[in-house]
Amino acid sequence: MTSSMTTKKTTRKPTTNSRTRPEKGPVAERLQKVLARAGVASRRAAEVLVREGRVQVNGRVITELGTKVDAGKDHVKVDGRHIGAAQRMVYYAFYKPTRVVTTLQDPEGRRTVKGYLKGVHERVYPIGRLDYETEGLILLTNDGDLAARCMHPKHGVSKVYHLLVEGDFPDALLEKLEDGVFIDINPAKDPRRTLPARVKRLKMTRRPKQRTMLEIRLREGRNRQVRRMFARVGREIVYLRRTAVGPVHLGTMRPGDLRPLTPEEVRDLKKL
Ligand code: URA
Repeated sequence: MTSSMTTKKTTRKPTTNSRTRPEKGPVAERLQKVLARAGVASRRAAEVLVREGRVQVNGRVITELGTKVDAGKDHVKVDGRHIGAAQRMVYYAFYKPTRVVTTLQDPEGRRTVKGYLKGVHERVYPIGRLDYETEGLILLTNDGDLAARCMHPKHGVSKVYHLLVEGDFPDALLEKLEDGVFIDINPAKDPRRTLPARVKRLKMTRRPKQRTMLEIRLREGRNRQVRRMFARVGREIVYLRRTAVGPVHLGTMRPGDLRPLTPEEVRDLKKL
């Protein structure tokens, strides 16, 4: 085999090393890192691809996470398709309208985020999700490392939502949400309280109906978390929009808008 691929267990030396490679070039890196840099998936998702036997290097299925490959020499395939060379990293803010799924394809044939990515040539994917009925800010990137960092609970990236509920919203409920609630009706199934949150009333309307607009700031992202938190205090959300993720804000964006992040936004996200 003429590859530079190495695994933890093998004793064979890589065919490329600092002596046999006079010119500067790519060096052996962990397979999952190469997959993430090529925009295939986040590093964690790439590990799953490897373990599931979906990755081939120079024609051999590799399931060993310690495997090192040289992206400049080895032929890496995922599900039988060649991964390209490392891509330029790109970062976008997208205003997801309601009734759009936060995936790139949908088996039920509903509108997806992909339909809004005309002109984006890199293989970007959404960082996290919004429900079908929720609108607002979604970040998209092909930078697997940054995506994994943004989603990892230990980094506690803040997310801000604006929402509308029927009726008034007394302080007692506000404080309950801030302190944390069990979002599963059966706490034995999910015994974790939500983490402390910040909740404030933004405005109230009396006509045509009494309604309250609120803002909630969370540092975690559990499934349908905002809707479930409000359901636990007896309020159904009639409208939900995410307005910010970490340092990135919707600002004047409109539903369906896509914009590249500014260098400052990317820098601040990387600092998280
Ligand atoms: N919380 C929800 O309930 N829905 C979302 O889409 C995001 C957060």
